Order: sequence, then C-alpha cells, then structure tokens
Amino acid sequence: MTAITNIIAIDGPAGAGKSTVARAVADTLGYAFLDTGAMYRAATWWVLQRNVDFEDPEAIEDAVRVLPLEMREEAGRSRVWVGEHEVTDDIRTAAITDTIWRVDEVPGVRRHLVELQRAFGAKQPTVAEGRDMGTVVFPNARCKIYLDADPEVRARRRTDELQARGQEADYETILAAIRERDHRGMTRADSPLRPAPDAVRIDTSGMSLKEAVDAIVREARRTK
Ligand code: DC
Repeated sequence: MTAITNIIAIDGPAGAGKSTVARAVADTLGYAFLDTGAMYRAATWWVLQRNVDFEDPEAIEDAVRVLPLEMREEAGRSRVWVGEHEVTDDIRTAAITDTIWRVDEVPGVRRHLVELQRAFGAKQPTVAEGRDMGTVVFPNARCKIYLDADPEVRARRRTDELQARGQEADYETILAAIRERDHRGMTRADSPLRPAPDAVRIDTSGMSLKEAVDAIVREARRTK
C-alpha cells in the first residue's frame, strides 16, 4: 500500500465556499495552500493570449506545457503570474470562466497540471483545493473533504460577492451558469467532479463558512 500523504484534499462544485474555507484551514494548520482552479484559470489566460485554436487540443496541450506559471502567497492572498504578467485579477473574469472548460477538458493539460500539483504537495504539508484532488491528484491524501451546497445557495453567495465588489450580478443568470458548470463538470470524461469514496461530505448550505472551517480542521486533526 502506498503511504498516506500529508495532504488535506478539498473538492466540490463552484460556489460551495471552497477557496475561502480551504485557505482558512491551511492558515489554521500552518499548511501551504494550493488553489488548483487558479492553475486552470492561468492556463486558459495563456491559451487565449497566444490565440491558440480551441478546436486543436494538441496545440492547447503544447501551449500549456510551456506555461510560465508562478503562484505566491502574499498577505493572505494567492497572487498569480504568467511570465511577467500578474494575472491574479484577470483570471477571475467571465471571459476566463466561460472558456475554461475548453482547456480543462484536454487530457494532456490535466496530466501536466496534475504533475505540477503533485510536485507542490510532495514538498510540504498542503491543503489542496479543486475538483479532483481526492479522486485523481492525491488519492492517498490523509484527509478528503467534499464541500457541497445547494445550487440556489451557491448562486446567492456568488451574487452577493460580486455585488459587494461593485460588479453587476443577476441571481437567475448566475444560477443558470452554476447549473451548467455543475453538469459539465460532473459529466466530463476526464476527472469528473465527484466525491472520492473515502471523502467526508460537508454541506455548507445551512452553515457559516467558519463552521465549515471548524469541521474540516477537526477532521484534519482526527486523521493526523
Ligand atoms: O475553482 P475555480 O472556479 O477557480 O475553478 C475554475 C475551473 O477550473 C472550474 O470550472 C473547473 C476547473 N478545475 C478543474 O478542472 N480541476 C481542478 N482541480 C480545479 C479546477
């Protein structure tokens, strides 16, 4: 049997609170934080920047294999660079969110980013957040969490979050987009979103994010 790795794997759909919760868990435990969604976002930014043909998966894979990605934690925030461009904010725009599936469904892209993710996790105790952390990337993670929430709750949180940032946000449009992304993520051929058989499922619909963090930290300590 392969040794258990010092990884806390947190997976779940968009808007379940994963990023906020995973970062807080990492801070509490003193672990590194790995935002794998940011890696797929940066890869998509790079593919768009280079005008790669979306109909050509090999060209997408070739581009991503030379992605000059750098991620750094600064003042409680993950900052992301591609080459000399800081893309921390640019990778969160709708232009990226709407096209990311064209990049994250390319198997060669996933293979490459998974290698980088495993290398990161091998270096230090890590809280890794994404869609396939417990199922594919770190099957021997010491603790696996699947964070979920009702689509309506996730859409409400996303709407409030965008409005708080002064951006326009329509609840119904966001709900429809969340349902679409759920469907796409759960039915894709490579690394579909689903809980690992040994994951602890936490539904945050009726929970504050602090309660979710506490529950995960308890679980992480129990498995130590
Ligand atoms: O968590 P996020 O919204 O930043 O992720 C952006 C997209 O990246 C998401 O739609 C699916 C994809 N993703 C993935 O395919 N595998 C991961 N481990 C993380 C994200």
